Amino acid sequence: MNSISSHKSSNLSGDLIVPGDKSISHRSLIIGSLVNGRIEINNLLESEDVIATANALRILGVQINKLNNKWEVFGSGIGNFYGSNYTLNMGNSGTGARLLMGLIAGSDIEATFIGDESLSKRPMKRITSPLKKTGATIGNQTNNLPIKIKGNKIVLPIEYESSVSSAQVKSSILLAGLSSLGKTTVIEPTLSRDHTERMLKFFGANITTCQLDNMSWKITLEGVPDLKPLNLNIPADPSSASFPIVSAIITPNSKIKVVNVCVNELRIGLYKTLIEMGANIQFSNKRKINGELVADIRACSSNLKGIIVPKSRASSMIDEYPILSIAATRATGDTVMEGVEELRYKETDRIKTVCEGLQKIGIVTHETKDSMVVKGKGPNASIIGDVEINSNLDHRIAMSFLCLGLVTEKSITVRNTDTINSSFPFFMDKMNKIGAKLNLF
Ligand code: S3P
Repeated sequence: MNSISSHKSSNLSGDLIVPGDKSISHRSLIIGSLVNGRIEINNLLESEDVIATANALRILGVQINKLNNKWEVFGSGIGNFYGSNYTLNMGNSGTGARLLMGLIAGSDIEATFIGDESLSKRPMKRITSPLKKTGATIGNQTNNLPIKIKGNKIVLPIEYESSVSSAQVKSSILLAGLSSLGKTTVIEPTLSRDHTERMLKFFGANITTCQLDNMSWKITLEGVPDLKPLNLNIPADPSSASFPIVSAIITPNSKIKVVNVCVNELRIGLYKTLIEMGANIQFSNKRKINGELVADIRACSSNLKGIIVPKSRASSMIDEYPILSIAATRATGDTVMEGVEELRYKETDRIKTVCEGLQKIGIVTHETKDSMVVKGKGPNASIIGDVEINSNLDHRIAMSFLCLGLVTEKSITVRNTDTINSSFPFFMDKMNKIGAKLNLF
């Protein structure tokens, strides 16, 4: 297991390409395997999480090949998977595991899902409960991997009201619902990322979204659509872009541009929050690619002030709270993050891990079950650093603390950084290219 040290830096500058979006990459392989024919995917994220999904699909019989710098998937149509006794190792990937459970529920297959130590602790009942209602059979274990799941020949159309806003829950149910002869409906309290809906629509499915009187959201899919084989271009991941962007904001004399980033409204909560905190961030060259909004993002060194980030924003920046907490250490005043209980169920308990890590370097934090406060030290305060942080098998924790090390007096070393490969291959090289000082420890 590698470790990386991060050292005081300044003058981050230049243009940067970050890897393809993780959520869209998983979906391109999974939904690609359900279309009628062959598709090509450009700029697929070749990270461990996404490769785990590709390998799982291959085990189920899907032909997926890497061409020169593209990928091809031979879709076999909806529900056309057969067999039993498959074991699918999803590694660290919650998205891969949860979405593929939906695909299995919509096919005549039986498979057992396994994963690494982190994934094996994450809650799965939120997926297995609704999938049972579609007719799937779940083995004795319903909340933690390993989980055995068997699809039903007849997939029942369900209306499911989820208590959490989770794109993984929503997508899993919709993927099962593709095989149902009726309409499948998911209701969620706030709208979570809608890449599944956008991609299904792009391939020709009939899917609608509307807001209900009580302000929750209802997504309805008509079953067994004829999914057309169309090629996909995957934009850069706004969650990965957040690391160089926050680094540029907190590091003196910096100015960078990240190009071709997915700026889907349901993914840019962090950028809205940073702008409210006073960050100089600009979006340009906005355009649509395969139903997704894409733009270039410029950011430069800025003085930040603490704000209250409301619960209503949580699902649009759910993966970005660790890096927001790093930005918050350099803000004047408190940054209050409300309604973030879901962070406790990510690759680690991110509220606990962030607070413990920040306290180690002398930042005052406060946590409740569903909120977190970071007391900012101001843009010019000296933070000593000189600590070691364990990634806890959480890529975003690892990258966030490495970004903080760019502004501490002494270095920050993060242990077990291999996990960064689950979402951001070549993170260290890309950061160093814009002037960050990161090295293998
Ligand atoms: C994802 C959804 C989010 C996010 C995860 C990717 C997806 O999880 O945290 O990294 O691709 O659907 P939830 O929607 O379950 O909160």
